[in-house]
Amino acid sequence: MAVERTLSIIKPDAVEQNNIGNILAMIQAAGLEVLGLRMLHLSRAQAEGFYEVHKDRPFFGELVEFMTRGPVVVSALAGEDAVARHRTLMGATDPAEADEGTIRKAYGTDIGKNACHGSDSVENGKAEVTYFFPEYLLK
Ligand code: CMP
Repeated sequence: MAVERTLSIIKPDAVEQNNIGNILAMIQAAGLEVLGLRMLHLSRAQAEGFYEVHKDRPFFGELVEFMTRGPVVVSALAGEDAVARHRTLMGATDPAEADEGTIRKAYGTDIGKNACHGSDSVENGKAEVTYFFPEYLLK
Protein backbone atom coordinates (compact mmCIF):
# COMPACT_ATOMS: atom_id res chain seq x y z
CA MET A 1 0.00 0.00 0.00
CA ALA A 2 1.14 3.51 -0.77
CA VAL A 3 1.04 6.72 1.23
CA GLU A 4 -1.86 8.73 -0.18
CA ARG A 5 -3.35 12.18 0.31
CA THR A 6 -7.03 12.82 0.66
CA LEU A 7 -9.20 15.84 1.35
CA SER A 8 -11.64 16.12 4.24
CA ILE A 9 -14.30 18.82 4.38
CA ILE A 10 -16.22 19.29 7.61
CA LYS A 11 -19.44 20.68 6.16
CA PRO A 12 -21.50 23.67 7.36
CA ASP A 13 -24.00 21.50 9.28
CA ALA A 14 -21.24 19.95 11.39
CA VAL A 15 -19.52 23.31 11.92
CA GLU A 16 -22.84 24.86 13.04
CA GLN A 17 -23.37 22.00 15.50
CA ASN A 18 -19.91 22.47 17.08
CA ASN A 19 -18.61 19.14 15.83
CA ILE A 20 -15.30 20.31 14.31
CA GLY A 21 -13.27 18.97 17.21
CA ASN A 22 -15.21 15.71 17.45
CA ILE A 23 -14.69 14.96 13.75
CA LEU A 24 -11.00 15.90 13.77
CA ALA A 25 -10.56 13.68 16.84
CA MET A 26 -12.08 10.75 14.93
CA ILE A 27 -9.78 11.42 11.97
CA GLN A 28 -6.69 11.55 14.20
CA ALA A 29 -7.75 8.54 16.26
CA ALA A 30 -7.97 6.62 12.98
CA GLY A 31 -4.28 7.35 12.43
CA LEU A 32 -4.65 9.78 9.54
CA GLU A 33 -2.09 12.56 9.60
CA VAL A 34 -3.36 16.15 9.26
CA LEU A 35 -0.96 17.89 6.85
CA GLY A 36 -2.93 21.12 6.51
CA LEU A 37 -6.08 22.67 7.96
CA ARG A 38 -8.15 25.74 7.00
CA MET A 39 -11.50 27.16 8.02
CA LEU A 40 -13.16 29.13 5.25
CA HIS A 41 -16.52 30.22 3.92
CA LEU A 42 -16.73 28.87 0.38
CA SER A 43 -17.78 31.29 -2.34
CA ARG A 44 -20.36 30.08 -4.84
CA ALA A 45 -17.60 29.82 -7.46
CA GLN A 46 -15.40 27.71 -5.16
CA ALA A 47 -18.26 25.33 -4.32
CA GLU A 48 -19.36 25.05 -7.96
CA GLY A 49 -15.78 24.42 -9.04
CA PHE A 50 -15.16 21.83 -6.37
CA TYR A 51 -18.34 19.88 -7.18
CA GLU A 52 -18.19 20.42 -10.94
CA VAL A 53 -18.39 16.67 -11.56
CA HIS A 54 -21.95 16.82 -10.13
CA LYS A 55 -23.07 19.88 -12.12
CA ASP A 56 -25.69 18.01 -14.13
CA ARG A 57 -27.18 16.22 -11.12
CA PRO A 58 -30.62 17.34 -9.92
CA PHE A 59 -29.25 18.09 -6.45
CA PHE A 60 -26.40 20.35 -7.63
CA GLY A 61 -28.13 23.65 -6.78
CA GLU A 62 -29.08 22.39 -3.32
CA LEU A 63 -25.54 21.09 -2.76
CA VAL A 64 -23.93 24.44 -3.66
CA GLU A 65 -26.48 26.34 -1.56
CA PHE A 66 -25.75 24.12 1.43
CA MET A 67 -21.97 24.19 1.08
CA THR A 68 -21.95 28.01 0.96
CA ARG A 69 -24.39 28.66 3.82
CA GLY A 70 -21.63 28.87 6.46
CA PRO A 71 -17.98 28.09 7.12
CA VAL A 72 -16.37 24.72 6.45
CA VAL A 73 -13.11 23.20 7.68
CA VAL A 74 -10.94 21.64 4.99
CA SER A 75 -8.02 19.41 5.84
CA ALA A 76 -5.36 17.66 3.80
CA LEU A 77 -4.89 14.16 5.22
CA ALA A 78 -2.14 11.63 4.58
CA GLY A 79 -1.39 8.02 5.37
CA GLU A 80 -1.10 4.52 4.01
CA ASP A 81 -4.29 3.79 2.02
CA ALA A 82 -5.65 7.13 3.29
CA VAL A 83 -8.42 7.53 0.69
CA ALA A 84 -10.16 4.24 1.52
CA ARG A 85 -9.51 4.51 5.26
CA HIS A 86 -11.05 7.97 5.39
CA ARG A 87 -14.08 6.84 3.37
CA THR A 88 -14.60 3.91 5.74
CA LEU A 89 -14.38 6.31 8.68
CA MET A 90 -16.95 8.66 7.10
CA GLY A 91 -19.50 5.92 6.42
CA ALA A 92 -22.16 5.82 3.69
CA THR A 93 -23.11 9.07 1.93
CA ASP A 94 -26.61 8.78 3.40
CA PRO A 95 -26.24 8.87 7.21
CA ALA A 96 -29.29 6.58 7.49
CA GLU A 97 -27.18 3.86 5.86
CA ALA A 98 -23.92 4.61 7.68
CA ASP A 99 -22.40 2.07 10.08
CA GLU A 100 -22.09 2.65 13.80
CA GLY A 101 -18.82 4.36 14.69
CA THR A 102 -18.67 6.43 11.49
CA ILE A 103 -18.66 10.22 11.26
CA ARG A 104 -21.87 10.39 9.24
CA LYS A 105 -23.70 8.04 11.59
CA ALA A 106 -22.68 10.20 14.55
CA TYR A 107 -23.06 13.67 13.05
CA GLY A 108 -24.93 13.51 9.72
CA THR A 109 -28.61 14.39 9.28
CA ASP A 110 -29.52 13.29 5.76
CA ILE A 111 -27.93 12.69 2.35
CA GLY A 112 -27.53 16.42 1.73
CA LYS A 113 -26.53 17.43 5.26
CA ASN A 114 -24.04 14.62 5.82
CA ALA A 115 -21.41 16.35 7.97
CA CYS A 116 -18.32 15.61 5.88
CA HIS A 117 -16.82 15.06 2.46
CA GLY A 118 -13.90 12.84 1.53
CA SER A 119 -12.09 12.27 -1.77
CA ASP A 120 -13.37 9.17 -3.57
CA SER A 121 -10.20 8.08 -5.38
CA VAL A 122 -6.44 8.48 -5.18
CA GLU A 123 -6.52 10.72 -8.26
CA ASN A 124 -9.25 12.93 -6.79
CA GLY A 125 -7.40 12.99 -3.47
CA LYS A 126 -4.43 14.66 -5.15
CA ALA A 127 -6.64 17.06 -7.13
CA GLU A 128 -8.85 18.03 -4.18
CA VAL A 129 -5.91 18.61 -1.81
CA THR A 130 -4.36 20.83 -4.47
CA TYR A 131 -7.69 22.71 -4.89
CA PHE A 132 -7.48 24.00 -1.32
CA PHE A 133 -3.77 23.62 -0.50
CA PRO A 134 -1.74 24.63 -3.53
CA GLU A 135 1.34 24.75 -1.27
CA TYR A 136 0.99 20.98 -0.79
CA LEU A 137 1.36 20.21 -4.49
CA LEU A 138 2.55 16.64 -4.89
CA LYS A 139 6.07 16.38 -6.18
P1 CMP B 1 -20.07 14.46 -0.90
O1 CMP B 1 -19.21 13.34 -0.44
O2 CMP B 1 -19.71 15.82 -0.43
O3 CMP B 1 -20.15 14.46 -2.49
C1 CMP B 1 -21.25 14.97 -3.21
C2 CMP B 1 -22.38 15.31 -2.31
O4 CMP B 1 -23.63 15.44 -2.94
C3 CMP B 1 -22.60 14.17 -1.32
O5 CMP B 1 -21.55 14.16 -0.39
C4 CMP B 1 -23.96 14.49 -0.77
O6 CMP B 1 -23.93 15.32 0.36
C5 CMP B 1 -24.59 15.22 -1.92
N1 CMP B 1 -25.69 14.42 -2.46
C6 CMP B 1 -25.61 13.23 -3.05
N2 CMP B 1 -26.84 12.79 -3.40
C7 CMP B 1 -27.70 13.75 -3.00
C8 CMP B 1 -29.10 13.90 -3.08
N3 CMP B 1 -29.86 12.94 -3.63
N4 CMP B 1 -29.65 15.02 -2.58
C9 CMP B 1 -28.86 15.99 -2.03
N5 CMP B 1 -27.52 15.90 -1.94
C10 CMP B 1 -26.96 14.80 -2.42
